[in-house]
Amino acid sequence: MFSSKIIGVGHYVPENIVTNKDLEKLMDTSDKWIQDRTGIKERRFHSHEKGSTAKMGVKAAKIAMERAGVTNNDIDAIVFATLSSDYYFPGSGVLVQHQLKMGTKPAIDIRAQCSGFIYSLSVADQFIKTGMYKRILVIGADTQNIALDLTTRGRDMGVLFGDGAGAAVLERTEDNKKGILSTHLYTQGEFADLLCIREPGSGHDRIIYPDMHKNYLNIHPQMNGKFVFKNAVMRMPEAIKQALKTNNLKVTDIDMLLTHQANLRISQVVQKFLRLPNEKVYNNIQKYGNTTSATIPILLSELWEQGKIKEGQLYAMAAFGSGFTWASALIRW
Ligand code: UT7
Repeated sequence: MFSSKIIGVGHYVPENIVTNKDLEKLMDTSDKWIQDRTGIKERRFHSHEKGSTAKMGVKAAKIAMERAGVTNNDIDAIVFATLSSDYYFPGSGVLVQHQLKMGTKPAIDIRAQCSGFIYSLSVADQFIKTGMYKRILVIGADTQNIALDLTTRGRDMGVLFGDGAGAAVLERTEDNKKGILSTHLYTQGEFADLLCIREPGSGHDRIIYPDMHKNYLNIHPQMNGKFVFKNAVMRMPEAIKQALKTNNLKVTDIDMLLTHQANLRISQVVQKFLRLPNEKVYNNIQKYGNTTSATIPILLSELWEQGKIKEGQLYAMAAFGSGFTWASALIRW
């Protein structure tokens, strides 16, 4: 039986920094409200002339491949997580496959929103475990800024998100004490409407119809923030505890906890539930806001850059988001 291990990670965020003060000029909000309620100080927005979800994904992927010491020829497949694909169809995975000049290698898009990267790790892990592929590029990238209503009307969602991409190269190993020990995936579709963008969608006469822009509630992201918050703080620790149980490990065995960065308060509650000290937790929402499927690989890539990823250490990851979907992964580096 094979396992898969991460041999390189990379990330890319657009240069354009949007601070809370910048948002104050667009809507009735304040730096204090945003920092107190979310921990966010600034985020990155890309401009459509310079970037797209696929282009950001390519930049992150190139860094991950370079750090892994592999080239496009060494990769057997791409698994690409995003909720903001460049086209309505096809997904952005195929654009990345083309831009990385990967011949006819397969590209699979995963739509699991904030849990997308862990879902994608899980998919890639299964392909490697069965022996079908040896090396897979897993990417999480999202462009949120163009969907946000950056006026007072949309301020509850508008201040939360940023753009970015992260990537990891997974490689087959025969040492199954290392690498991805397990992934656990969950969905509760009954809550799809509580965090979503409804249109463009297939439940209408036409994808684009006259006066569509007037249907404000459908074309911008909508969320029941308090309900999402309550579920996120319950589900992420639950998924991590399940992962630990499956692997016969304890919370005290965790060397580093990485949670999806949707709100610093959510990450702090998860940390508290798990009783982990600050030195075993890494958060970066202050700089980037919620980057959706890019969050987990950006956290990993920053730790890599800081030299904090150490062989043999145990990384616990959890994400929660629209769907609802949630997931955990346990990785022995
Ligand atoms: O990635 C997917 C997962 N997403 C999440 O996990 C997000 C989960 N939810 C949250 O993080 C929080 O619910 C929010 C940050 C979205 C909101 O924080 P909250 O503490 O739940 O605030 P609230 O929605 O109860 O709003 C409190 C007040 C309201 O005013 P009133 O009704 O008390 O007068 C809002 O209108 O804050 C107001 N408000 C704002 N004020 C200034 C909402 N957004 C803003 C804003 N600036 N941007």
